[in-house]
Amino acid sequence: MSIAVVITDRNTDDLCRHLCLALPEVPIQQWPEITNPEAVKMAVLWNHPVGITQQFPQLQMAVSMGAGVDHILTDEAIGEDIVTARIVTQVLKQNMAQYVLQHILNDHRHLIDYQQQQTQKVWQVLETDFQPAVGFLGLGELGSFVADQCHALGLKTLAWTQSQQHDVHPCFHGESGLQHVCVNSDFLVILLPMNAETADIINSKTLSWCKVNCTLINVGRGGHVNEADLLDALNHGKIKHAVLDVFKQEPLPTTHPFWSHHKITVTPHSSSRSDVQQTAEQIVSYYQSLI
Ligand code: GLV
Repeated sequence: MSIAVVITDRNTDDLCRHLCLALPEVPIQQWPEITNPEAVKMAVLWNHPVGITQQFPQLQMAVSMGAGVDHILTDEAIGEDIVTARIVTQVLKQNMAQYVLQHILNDHRHLIDYQQQQTQKVWQVLETDFQPAVGFLGLGELGSFVADQCHALGLKTLAWTQSQQHDVHPCFHGESGLQHVCVNSDFLVILLPMNAETADIINSKTLSWCKVNCTLINVGRGGHVNEADLLDALNHGKIKHAVLDVFKQEPLPTTHPFWSHHKITVTPHSSSRSDVQQTAEQIVSYYQSLI
């Protein structure tokens, strides 16, 4: 029995080395050299060729290299009998909190304004006396970790969840709950799973509920945002800024208007990645759970 590492957008030598060391008796097959597909019992997937698991008749578990499992759930070759798992490490959560806080704090603490003042040798303190509210769409493992870090730094937090409650972060549900979170957030952070209910959740209606000084931070999936509606909201001053790490099409095409929009910050799906050591540990423990 063997593990196939089918990750096509990055070098996986180090990960495979860790797996070989931890599981010396298990052949690790590294994309694109899947030489014994019949033996694959577990596949670690990221940006995988859709349908590839058809070649793995013994497959028991499909593990996402990241927190999102949409690439697994939308691959019809992966049936319901295959167990789905995901890698969420402490490093992934910390990276995500760093990314979100970086953008919130740059804005809240006027970093760009002070840089601008510096070019003109202006000595002027800008007021930061309000406590901004950070609204989370989604309060899963990543969302709740990031919300905890925001709360620890004195920011107000609130969240839109399916039904879940939280001791620290007030949660709101349904359409009226979504409206409440949009209306009351200075920063709106998307950390939702991608599915039919959450597709295009940022659209002309939800954007019309947002404050004019709201900054949208999308670290979920590109499919959460209706791109035309977002451009319209930014162009008409309905929200202040959008920080986008994920896109409907990745890499973002060079002709896409987001690249050069002065109210949009684009990053290349780089907000958060797991470290190799912790990732390998989780894969090993998933594998051992199958034995
Ligand atoms: C990244 O996008 C992830 O799902 O972890």
